[in-house]
Amino acid sequence: MILVTGGAGFIGSHTCVALAQAGIPFMVLDNLCNSRRSVLERVERITGAPVPFIEGDIRDTALLQRVFAEHAVEGVIHFAALKSVGESVREPLRYYDNNVAGTVALLGAMRAANVRTLVFSSSATVYGDPALVPIREDFPLSATNAYGWSKLMMEQVLADVDASEPGQWRIARLRYFNPVGAHASGLIGEDPQDIPNNLLPYVAQVAVGLREQLSVYGNDYPTPDGTGVRDYIHVCDLAEGHVAALRYLRDHPGLLTVNLGTGRPVSVLEMVRAFERASGRAVPYRIVARRPGDVAQCWADPALAQELLGWTAKLGLDQMCEDAWRWQSGVGASLQA
Ligand code: NAD
Ligand code: WQD
Repeated sequence: MILVTGGAGFIGSHTCVALAQAGIPFMVLDNLCNSRRSVLERVERITGAPVPFIEGDIRDTALLQRVFAEHAVEGVIHFAALKSVGESVREPLRYYDNNVAGTVALLGAMRAANVRTLVFSSSATVYGDPALVPIREDFPLSATNAYGWSKLMMEQVLADVDASEPGQWRIARLRYFNPVGAHASGLIGEDPQDIPNNLLPYVAQVAVGLREQLSVYGNDYPTPDGTGVRDYIHVCDLAEGHVAALRYLRDHPGLLTVNLGTGRPVSVLEMVRAFERASGRAVPYRIVARRPGDVAQCWADPALAQELLGWTAKLGLDQMCEDAWRWQSGVGASLQA
């Protein structure tokens, strides 16, 4: 049994589907601070099987002890975290408490229960403003905001825990690039509780008519069309990466660190055009000033994940947009109305 913390969230819910399809039993622990209980009902509709769910917080040590005592948990996929960069700058203590202290509490409970397999959601944000692209795992690490620092700190905690009991732990630090898209059923997808911070959900809400126009944050970057360039990865490919990491850890004790990206750079304007094609709707935009803290380019060298995990991203930009549109124009719109 795999415990999925944050399993009701965007990436977690898609990973639940991937686990079910891989025949790996799992249960979800989520405090629903950024998700809805109905997500798991929709996961059940996709997979045709019940999803065991515990509503609770990773910082609740007594609860974690109970979960590990009552269920035969062999490993944890740990998505639970707060993820808004702007909010993290305004409320750093909340972010350090939820993300860093939460992860420390989870690791303590795991160790006490003799559960030493963990797949961790890290982020390309740990590369800061990269001097070179594509980005390899051995590039320098840095952070410019509390969210980024929380990810870097958690990566360090995991490295120290691994080093403290050599060969005992099996830990994967997966550095996601920009997850987008939705499950092909249209039943689950990204469901921002507020004004979206990220590009694709904002574009999708403009296309469906929930928002008037997109603000493109700068067209004077040193990139082919002047707008920011990223590595967007379909959330279903990303979900498969977690299954591949779990399989890898079965045979490889120690600490694994890999990028999960496509290796294909896409600009803001390319994304707008792709979404217009997929949706058949116009996405009006205006160019505004750069967003503070944004980097010009960020995309992955995904070779290590291919070599070690046998994993590569299969779904392209058009598929990401078509699936995001199916979700946004259907269930997503009715939830956000
Ligand atoms: P999400 O907000 O949709 O999912 C996170 C889930 O964790 C939510 O369901 C939330 O309710 C839950 N949660 C948060 N704090 C919790 C706590 N203390 N106890 C229990 N549950 C808690 O976010 P997501 O996009 O699915 O991201 C999942 C993970 O991937 C996060 O760790 C995030 O930092 C990381 N990540 C996300 C992105 C991205 O762009 N979406 C990129 C890189 C890394
Ligand atoms: C992508 C591009 C923007 C919105 C952030 C976090 C990172 C990670 C993923 C978790 C950039 C441009 C965006 C808009 C725009 N999260 N943009 N108008 O900045 O790569 O990464 O989310 O780990 O930590 O920093 O993603 O989707 O916000 O932006 O022009 O309304 O779209 O400037 O070039 P980003 P994003």
